[in-house]
Amino acid sequence: MSTVLEQIEQQIAKLSTKSVKKNTGTIRAIADGVAKLDGLSDVMYNEMVQFPGGAIGIALNLEEDEVGCVILGDISGLKEGDEVQTTGRLLSVPVGKALLGRAVDALGQPVDGKGPIDSKEFYPVEKIAPGIIVRKSVSQPLFTGITAIDSMIPIGRGQRELIIGDRGTGKTTITIDTIINQARINRTGLASGDKNFRPVYSIYVAIGQKNSNIVRTMTALEAAGALEYTIIVAAPAADNPANQYLAPYSGAAMGEWFMENGMDALIVYDDLSKHAVAYRQISLILKRPSGREAFPGDVFYLHSRLLERAARLDGKGSLTALPIIETLAGDLSAYIPTNVISITDGQIFLETDLFNQGIRPAVSVGLSVSRVGSSAQIKATKQVAGKLKGELAQYRELAAFAQFGADLDAKTKAQLDRGGRIVELFKQPQLNPISIELQASFLWAMQKNYFDDIDVKKIVVAAAKLREFLTTRKQPLLDKIRTKAALDAELEAELKTACDEWKAGYKS
Ligand SMILES: Nc1ncnc2c1ncn2[C@@H]1O[C@H](COP(=O)(O)OP(=O)(O)O)[C@@H](O)[C@H]1O
Ligand SMILES: [Mg+2]
Repeated sequence: MSTVLEQIEQQIAKLSTKSVKKNTGTIRAIADGVAKLDGLSDVMYNEMVQFPGGAIGIALNLEEDEVGCVILGDISGLKEGDEVQTTGRLLSVPVGKALLGRAVDALGQPVDGKGPIDSKEFYPVEKIAPGIIVRKSVSQPLFTGITAIDSMIPIGRGQRELIIGDRGTGKTTITIDTIINQARINRTGLASGDKNFRPVYSIYVAIGQKNSNIVRTMTALEAAGALEYTIIVAAPAADNPANQYLAPYSGAAMGEWFMENGMDALIVYDDLSKHAVAYRQISLILKRPSGREAFPGDVFYLHSRLLERAARLDGKGSLTALPIIETLAGDLSAYIPTNVISITDGQIFLETDLFNQGIRPAVSVGLSVSRVGSSAQIKATKQVAGKLKGELAQYRELAAFAQFGADLDAKTKAQLDRGGRIVELFKQPQLNPISIELQASFLWAMQKNYFDDIDVKKIVVAAAKLREFLTTRKQPLLDKIRTKAALDAELEAELKTACDEWKAGYKS
């Protein structure tokens, strides 16, 4: 018996497991960044293939007699009959902190002219058979710095929250503000020496945008001191669809590096509507069957396996995802919006009407929801914002009704009055995230009626003045609110003194 075993063991030992997956083929057809290849019988799904001149392809369609692949890089020199080689490597991108402060393309190559990036580690762009992720429930907040969101639609680390709305409703702005807010929190937190402080690093993936827009975003981040905590992955509209298709997965790999190494990261996909269109283009050329709205049938799978990668991992870090979807005429029931709504843990819906009325950020209270974030909300915010969402929703209903000049009783009038003031308090200029301690403070003041006798039209200015007063004169109080994360009797008393002082000196 044992000799049989030994024989088998010897046999196994002699087996060479080193299969060199080098395999050569030729281009059968090439167009629009997509090539059909002959002869690559051993290629793997998502394997990189090497074209002459340095361009890299990724094998996507593995068929009996041909391989369909998308090509990244310069394809102008490629033609039918050119030779291609498999590499035996799945597509991977550089990861790590060396990428912070940089703009890279879908392959992780720098596009900002700041020289090469010194990163030694690479992660696969697609997670292969990820298995069941050891997720931990969301319990740590991720503050956007936007009062309407942090108080009513709170986001937790590891959450996937969709930002959805028509063009020009402020979607990108919300994500840029959120990234800037992380940078500010990082700076304060790291300077405080608190060992438990967990910074958040950001990855902004720009898909199908104009180059000028990407540059503007980068400039805004730099001006706000946020670029050093941010990686920009750029696949502009001028790039071929393969880059746009790939960019979010590359960004996700960079984010996973932070998560796997015990850190927290935030990733913005701006936007997945354009991503779906890029994929549709590729699929049409690859002659994949199309389904609803001419999108290939697996576009749902495409987005779900991307967003699945955001998580909070037990014993490690987290990756929070803010995907963006652009709707047409507010239509949430179109194919791509419904898909992504069903994959995420909630959505922030931005309304054109509100935006045009000057209610910015144009967050629709009724249609926005965060399904997991409230368990991560800090107590101070819960204390002052608990009823806000209900009050505001009621206000919108009453306001619509009151337009018809109906006679209103005193109670309704008071409700309208209060609602109108809350709407004003939530208005916030762009590039101006508000710290969670300041949010809690001025919402507390609202709750304690400090704004009630101020003309509704002057609320925006009054609230800004109160914030300025607190920041310049009461910083120690704000610091205490931040560290305690709750308003106890002592802090409430201090807040009252501060607000009284402010109100006494307030001139409308
Ligand atoms: N809170 C805000 N206050 C003032 N202007 C804003 C605000 N949010 C966005 N904007 C402006 O509205 C325009 C559209 O915003 P953007 O974020 O680009 O929209 P989207 O990404 O939805 O197309 C931009 O010019 C931006 O500066
Ligand atoms: Mg935008």
